[in-house]
Amino acid sequence: MLERIEEIRDQAGEAIEAATGTAELEELRIRYLGRKAELTTILRGIGELGDQERGRVGAAANQARQALERRLAARAERLDSAELDARLLADRVDVTLPGAPPLPVGHLHLITRTTRQIEDVMVGLGYRVMEGPEIEHDYYNFTALNHPPGHPARMLQDTFYLDPSSIVAGLGNRPSGESASSLRGETRSGDASSYGAQDVLLRTHTSPMQVRAMETQQPPIFVVVPGKVYRRDSDATHSPMFHQMEGLAVAEGITLADLKGTLLTMVRALFGEERQVRLRPHFFPFTEPSLEVDVSCFQCGGSGELAGGERCNLCKGQGWIEILGAGMVDPKVLGFVAANGYDPQRVQGFAFGLGIERVAMLRHGVPDLRRFFDNDLQMLEQFL
Ligand code: DAH
Repeated sequence: MLERIEEIRDQAGEAIEAATGTAELEELRIRYLGRKAELTTILRGIGELGDQERGRVGAAANQARQALERRLAARAERLDSAELDARLLADRVDVTLPGAPPLPVGHLHLITRTTRQIEDVMVGLGYRVMEGPEIEHDYYNFTALNHPPGHPARMLQDTFYLDPSSIVAGLGNRPSGESASSLRGETRSGDASSYGAQDVLLRTHTSPMQVRAMETQQPPIFVVVPGKVYRRDSDATHSPMFHQMEGLAVAEGITLADLKGTLLTMVRALFGEERQVRLRPHFFPFTEPSLEVDVSCFQCGGSGELAGGERCNLCKGQGWIEILGAGMVDPKVLGFVAANGYDPQRVQGFAFGLGIERVAMLRHGVPDLRRFFDNDLQMLEQFL
């Protein structure tokens, strides 16, 4: 019996040392120390042994059990920590690795890209980029831009007016608009009752920033202003919201030739080095003289004809494509900011405004402006 106990003790001891995992160790515990284990059976039968044997067998069996329990505990501790180490190693995250596979993160919208390209060209010419409010005062959108009462752009069917009482907290001071020399700092404080039904609107163009920019900065000034504008319009080439880029240059001695040179640089960067610009007389309330600006067609090279002899569909055989409005800033507009150094006798300048969607449509052959805002990824992903 004593020999058998010794055997069990050795056998179990070896098995415990050889165990490779905590699950295997638990099996060994059950096999050697469980209710049906041989050693347990021996211990349970001790009472039936003769007096002589009882003491020795009992002592040996108890020692064997205690020894095995200790070895089990010691082995479990080592296996536990080895298993923890292995788990930590396997779970380790290398935060410096790129995602695998890299997740598609999208790309800039074509309108954003076009805006930034134009900004880059203008910044290269020394212009600053400014932004302005989309909710605008009648004063900046119309009055200070010399839009006379009764101008069609002021009519309800062309412009989105807002109820001033719904937004007055964010409106700030009401520009007086009455005095030609008033700057923003001198104006009355704004509460809803000081605004009329047509005093607050979604800006219909980025031109109001001409006056705002001149209020904040004395001449010389060279700024471009990208942003959203709003009109009651919707068809393939108009949408109720679209984007414009305003340009303004005012200093001493600026001429129409400077405007032409600036626009030539811009259209060549956007439409190719071979392009020419053509200025046609036009009318805008806030410029005098006013111009519409055409760029020579980049599909037919300006001839109006395609290689096969047929009429160019892009410029409709004209050789020229209208791309923006411009002009010399009307002295009346400068009069609204004369107190900030814009004496119309001393400084002059030019302004221009272009439709960003129109530039993008022309450059990329997009037939319908509304597609830019449908959020159709199949359409937008073409312009990576
Ligand atoms: N604001 C005009 C529009 O939205 C565009 C424009 C024309 C802007 C002539 C100008 C300009 O600065 O000089 O139709």
